[in-house]
Amino acid sequence: MLEARTIEIVKSTVPLLESANTALTEHFYQRMFRDNPELKDVFNLSHQHTGRQPAALFAAVLAYAKNIDNPAVLSTAVERIAQKHTGFSIQPEQYAIVGHHLLETIKELAPDAATPEVIDAWAQAYGALADIFIGREEQIYAENENRIGGWRGTRNFVVKEKQVESELITSFLLAPADGGPVVGFKPGQYLNLHLVSDQLAHNEYRQYSLCQAPNGENYRIAVKREQGGVASSFMHDQVQVGDTLQVLPPSGDFFMDVTPQTPVVLLSGGVGLTPMRAMLDQLLSQNHTAPVYWLHACENGAQHAFKTDIQARRQAHANLETHVWYRQPQETDRPAEDYDASGLMDLGKLRDAICQPGAHYYFCGPVPFMAMVKETLSGWGIADDQLHYEVFGPHQSL
Ligand SMILES: Cc1cc2nc3c(=O)[nH]c(=O)nc-3n(C[C@H](O)[C@H](O)[C@H](O)COP(=O)(O)OP(=O)(O)OC[C@H]3O[C@@H](n4cnc5c(N)ncnc54)[C@H](O)[C@@H]3O)c2cc1C
Ligand code: HEM
Repeated sequence: MLEARTIEIVKSTVPLLESANTALTEHFYQRMFRDNPELKDVFNLSHQHTGRQPAALFAAVLAYAKNIDNPAVLSTAVERIAQKHTGFSIQPEQYAIVGHHLLETIKELAPDAATPEVIDAWAQAYGALADIFIGREEQIYAENENRIGGWRGTRNFVVKEKQVESELITSFLLAPADGGPVVGFKPGQYLNLHLVSDQLAHNEYRQYSLCQAPNGENYRIAVKREQGGVASSFMHDQVQVGDTLQVLPPSGDFFMDVTPQTPVVLLSGGVGLTPMRAMLDQLLSQNHTAPVYWLHACENGAQHAFKTDIQARRQAHANLETHVWYRQPQETDRPAEDYDASGLMDLGKLRDAICQPGAHYYFCGPVPFMAMVKETLSGWGIADDQLHYEVFGPHQSL
């Protein structure tokens, strides 16, 4: 429990934090990687390069300082971060390293404001937050370990299938090398790979949404080749059927939570279709009675992953409706058969169909795509608690 004076001092530093903005967390990461270069094997360095991770950390630190007297406001963010951390196998002793660099950053960037009293208050506040994360993360590790098919840390999985799903997306079916069962997950959650290879400059952790419903035996992920992408190129070019990969248990706070009577609208852009496919798989296998909409936008037919699979499901399930947009169809792409409309996803014409009382909306894709979806649905009066989205990278609020 933090003392009132500590809370007051931390809150008084909010203007200082705001003026420093992401310079604070950029400085923090620079000094941490300088003094603890082993953490380059933990963090995703491209998220440092793009500034997305410094931005996510800054948003979290600022939100904490602002709400330190009302931590309940932070519970959603704490859960998301803890879920993310467990996918990187973050350990309690690493909190001291991060805490040290955070305090040193404050001293270095604001030497005048960083009085012993301020540093002490931040040390207390950081310790309290670290304890919350450490506690929740241990809970997640223990739950993963104790459930049927569960484990802690990494487990070896063998690539059973490597299947081209489109020009850019290839799926991988992974089964445990020990032949045992695999722990269940909630559709929407992701699998965490720990890639270790002489071919990589650093060990890499990457998240890939599970793209088929849980079956207790194996997991399927689908990976888009990113231009210049370290892990996705490795998966596409190096990893073959029969190879072994290190896998951490599924995690994530984005998942479907509906009853059979809930109308569900799944909206995806590009490779953002992966978590939606697991959700669809689950809904159809559980005989969901309410309508389900599969709305997907991609570049063209060559990049349209899982096309025949989704079309077959539509034929088989009367409550499933699909609508597909190709941004720029190719000559060989057949309107009405391969896709329904050209251009970007435009929800206007579907408003009556998808605006159903009590519906839940799950969306994933590039951030501008998700921002468009959120703005449209919110503009139609759909409540925030019916809208759920996943960012394929450090979290950003839409
Ligand atoms: C919850 C979650 C779920 C996800 N699910 C999926 C999924 O189902 N399928 C999927 O394909 N992906 C998914 N992702 C994204 C995935 O985890 C990886 O981020 C993605 O595969 C890219 O990784 P990479 O190593 O190939 O690219 P990175 O090496 O991380 O690079 C990403 C981009 O940044 C550029 N870049 C990196 N460093 C530099 C630099 N120094 N200078 C210039 N440019 C640079 C690269 O060229 C590339 O375009 C998910 C992410 C999250 C967080
Ligand atoms: C109180 C302390 C901490 C806070 C407030 C914090 C905050 C965050 C936030 C906001 C994210 C982004 C989450 C998202 O994408 O949704 C994140 C990711 C991450 N954190 Fe922490 N974190 C803390 C401690 C640590 C520690 C001790 C480590 C271990 C070295 C660590 C390692 C990571 C890693 C590896 C990621 C993923 C980075 C990426 O995707 O590039 N964090 N953290």
